[in-house]
Amino acid sequence: MQGYLNEERRGAVLRSLRTDEGTLSRDYLAAARTVLRELVAMPDLVQRLPLERKAGGYTRNLLAGNEAVSVWAIVWAQGATTCIHDHHCSCCFGVVAGTITETWYRAIDVARAVPTEEQERQAGYVGCMLPSGPNIHRMRNLGAGDVITIHIYGFDHEAHASSIETEYTAVGG
Ligand SMILES: [Fe+2]
Repeated sequence: MQGYLNEERRGAVLRSLRTDEGTLSRDYLAAARTVLRELVAMPDLVQRLPLERKAGGYTRNLLAGNEAVSVWAIVWAQGATTCIHDHHCSCCFGVVAGTITETWYRAIDVARAVPTEEQERQAGYVGCMLPSGPNIHRMRNLGAGDVITIHIYGFDHEAHASSIETEYTAVGG
């Protein structure tokens, strides 16, 4: 793991994510957005990485990580979709190539949610969400080719399997 970026670049990414005040602070979120803006501005660099791909699904590739934060490149094959979920940590992402469809939901109880909004996130888009805010969403690749995104999560990849806190079932929509 973490073999995609050389040690120097990996260290630079982790240092520039200022996690000394945790991964919910305004400073951290601003740093995460800056890192993502830099990465989505260099799509060739990311696309040249030997990223894993999986037909019909999405594949996470760990680029860098420590006890506070983890950085992943995700390849979304045509038709790939996440479950409807919220997060136990902050979650910032940027779109490197293609367009990912993000649908937002509002929980109506502990297990069900209704869709409220849908946006097409195109290459260059950068956004962050916090576990304390309304942050239930689903991401799908509805296009014809692969989509590549970079995600920066406030979790230790050795302590958590993913950023998902709760999965929901859609009602309506
Ligand atoms: Fe998510």
